[in-house]
Amino acid sequence: MSTQPSSSRILLLFAHPSQARSEVNSVLFNSAKQLDAVTAVDLYAQYPDFNINIEREQQRLLSHDIIIFQFPVYWYSTPALLKEWQDLVLEYGFAYGKGGDALKGKLFFCAVSAGGREEAYQTDGFNHFTLRQLLQPLEQMASITQLTYLAPFALFGSRTAKEEHRITRHSALWTALLEALAKGELDIAKARQLENMTSYFNEQELNQ
Ligand SMILES: Cc1cc2nc3c(=O)[nH]c(=O)nc-3n(C[C@H](O)[C@H](O)[C@H](O)COP(=O)(O)O)c2cc1C
Repeated sequence: MSTQPSSSRILLLFAHPSQARSEVNSVLFNSAKQLDAVTAVDLYAQYPDFNINIEREQQRLLSHDIIIFQFPVYWYSTPALLKEWQDLVLEYGFAYGKGGDALKGKLFFCAVSAGGREEAYQTDGFNHFTLRQLLQPLEQMASITQLTYLAPFALFGSRTAKEEHRITRHSALWTALLEALAKGELDIAKARQLENMTSYFNEQELNQ
């Protein structure tokens, strides 16, 4: 089993422009904040005017082993501030290109919610592509920057998740995943291959 080194620091970069109406991501972000291993950054709170502090963001990246982008899927992609963050922070000579290996070997994945149902995210479904396929620009960003890309952790049908009582289980999976990552216990080869990291744990493991 390929695992990470024991005891890892996790940088959670959260981008949600209308958190007052959030039913899913706000719950996950708040539970992640409780974990010692997690540095939880609310990007829209820190940069409401999109004036990103590149030096600070690069230092944060350097001082963590695992990078997570957390966001609601907007137009099959990230909210605008997270795209701006990529455009500004992942500079030539830092994240890619000559001498640009600051991110080499760190783990990276996306924790996302999508309004569409899982069956819509299929080749023959309403959205024509799986969510993992639609997130391929981020997968390729990871490849160019030498990050190790893991499968997205995704909740589908997010706008009805609360009334359908699906958030508690999703949140438990999220906490279990973060704790396994922090302790260096995640099977990386398995996590790279999944379509959705929510299927990493079986019920038995979750209830332990
Ligand atoms: C501007 C905008 C664009 C959206 N685009 C998509 C989309 O492309 N695919 C999708 O499944 N849901 C889309 N949604 C729905 C959001 O993903 C959904 O509202 C979010 O996951 C709910 O999470 P929250 O409860 O944390 O706000 C969009 C919502 C907004 C406001």
